[in-house]
Formats: sequence, C-alpha cells, structure tokens
Amino acid sequence: DSDITLRPKWLNEYIGQDKVKNKLDIFIQAAKGRNEALDHVLLVGPPGLGKTTLANIIANEMGVNIRVTSGPAIERAGDLASILTNLSDDDVLFIDEIHRINRTVEEILYPAMEDYALDIIIGKGPSARSVRLDLSRFTLIGATTRSGLLTSPLRDRFGVLLNLELYDINSLTDIINRSAKILNIEIEIEGALEIARRSRGTPRIANRLLKRVRDYAQVVENGIITLEVAKKGLDLLEIDELGLDNVDRKILLSIIHNFDGGPVGIDTLSAATGEEKVTIEDVYEPYLIQIGFINRTPRGRVASKKAYEHFNISYK
Ligand code: ADE
Repeated sequence: DSDITLRPKWLNEYIGQDKVKNKLDIFIQAAKGRNEALDHVLLVGPPGLGKTTLANIIANEMGVNIRVTSGPAIERAGDLASILTNLSDDDVLFIDEIHRINRTVEEILYPAMEDYALDIIIGKGPSARSVRLDLSRFTLIGATTRSGLLTSPLRDRFGVLLNLELYDINSLTDIINRSAKILNIEIEIEGALEIARRSRGTPRIANRLLKRVRDYAQVVENGIITLEVAKKGLDLLEIDELGLDNVDRKILLSIIHNFDGGPVGIDTLSAATGEEKVTIEDVYEPYLIQIGFINRTPRGRVASKKAYEHFNISYK
C-alpha cells in the first residue's frame, strides 16, 4: 500500500509536532556527536499520529537498522531474547503497542534496557542459576497510546519521553498537499483545507480521506479536488463538517439519549454502543475531548452543550 511512499524518511520532511521534532533533533545530534546509541525513547499518543513513522526516522537519522515488532506479537520471553541477541550495535528495536507485552516478557526488557544484558535462568529448583549474556548497545523505541498503560518500572527506563498531540489544521493541510503531490492528485488549497478540517487531527485519517475523495473526484467529477468536490466526496463518506463519523455520532448520541447526557461510565458506554472500551478511549475520545464535545469527570463521561448543539438537540 502507498502509505510507505507517503511516510517521510527524515526529520526535516516530517510536518507538525514541532516540540517533538526539536527535542529529537537535539538528542539525535548529541548521541551521534558522542558516538553513542540514542537513549531509549517512549512515543505516546493516539493512533495514526506518526509514531511508527518517527521510529523509522530516528533509525534513519542515526544511520542504523530498525527491527519492528509489537507487544502482542512477542508471546514468550524466548521470542524477545532471540530478537535482542540478533541486534547489531546501535540498532533500533521498535515495539509498537508496548503496553500489551506480558509480564514475563517485560522482565526480560529491564536488564536489556539498563545494562544491555540478558539474564537467562539455567536449570530448575535449587540448582538453578542465572547467566548473564551481553547484548549489543541498542535503542528501544516503544509506542503506546497512553503512558498510564505502562507499568512504572518500564516507563522509568525510557530516557526520552515524547508526547504526540493531535495535529492542527495547517499541519494537516500541508500533509495533504504533500501526499497529493506524491500521489499525483490535483487538489486546490480550499479542497485540501476542507479535508484537513474533517480529519480529526490525524494524518492517517487525512491521507485516507484524500484517497477516497480522489476516487469520488475521478469517477463523479473531473478529477480535480476543489472545495465543492471535497465537500461532496466527504459527505458521501458520511464524514460531517467536524470530521465525525458514524461511530463518533453513535457514542455521542448514546450519551445524550441513553444516559441523559451523562455522566456514564466507560464500561456502560462500551456495552451500550457495542464498541470496545479501548477503542472508545484511544481512538474516539481524544478528538471528542479536544473539540470539547465530551468531558471526563470522576463519575464518567459527560456530553457538553456544544455536542447537543452540533446535533440540534436542546440542552437539558
Ligand atoms: N504523513 C503522515 N504524517 C506525516 C507527517 N507528520 N509529516 C509528513 N508527512 C506525513
């Protein structure tokens, strides 16, 4: 899929996330200047903001190889041990969804991160002993949606913590224009802005909407994405003026209609909507909270006056 071609390879091609880029630029230069591996990096933020892209950029900028895996893919301690022993000096190991690794696997990571060492238990019972194996110097890059999902011993072993935020409209417009150029899509600035406005602060969504609007422009219109064409294409996709899709609307309307605007607990909301709790929390809520449609209170989620107004429902 063309996502590969859309992914920037260098920090200076990466649009937005200025705070993250500034920090990374300095830490990368410093590590290179000292001829060291970069300290372990934790990337935190909602899905689709570019955590995997950043991990690849870091490896590229450091001039090292990257090995990519994910928390759920590492089932046994031996799986991780074999990955770690096959790394070369200064390599990057990227673990996506690192909060989903299990406890026994996580314990392998502690000495690996701290001392570049692997502790292996040989034998069983009273004669069991531990042998320490040296590993190559490496950089672990972990990605997670919320840092609170990590245990503190794991979180504490990352020297660099980077929080990715939802993108503003200008950054998303730049990303859409860049992607359009790469994919040979004709788009006017107002068309790009309209797609950006409806992308929920998320480049992955922006690129997906761009491709679908291109389909619409090609088949129904004359191929050029103008403001009008973007609006009609996005309406066809059932993405509203704020970028809300059917699931966003289902969540909001459930709070409003089934729970009288809330507060409603996340488990109850999950049962009522049929959407998984983590999906609501990690995929849908960040944007709904950002635009002020949902407030998180100690007693649960509340739909705001703004949310009622968006649906033309009179506020209680
Ligand atoms: N494509 C997806 N995310 C991007 C970003 N942050 N910068 C440039 N291109 C992107």
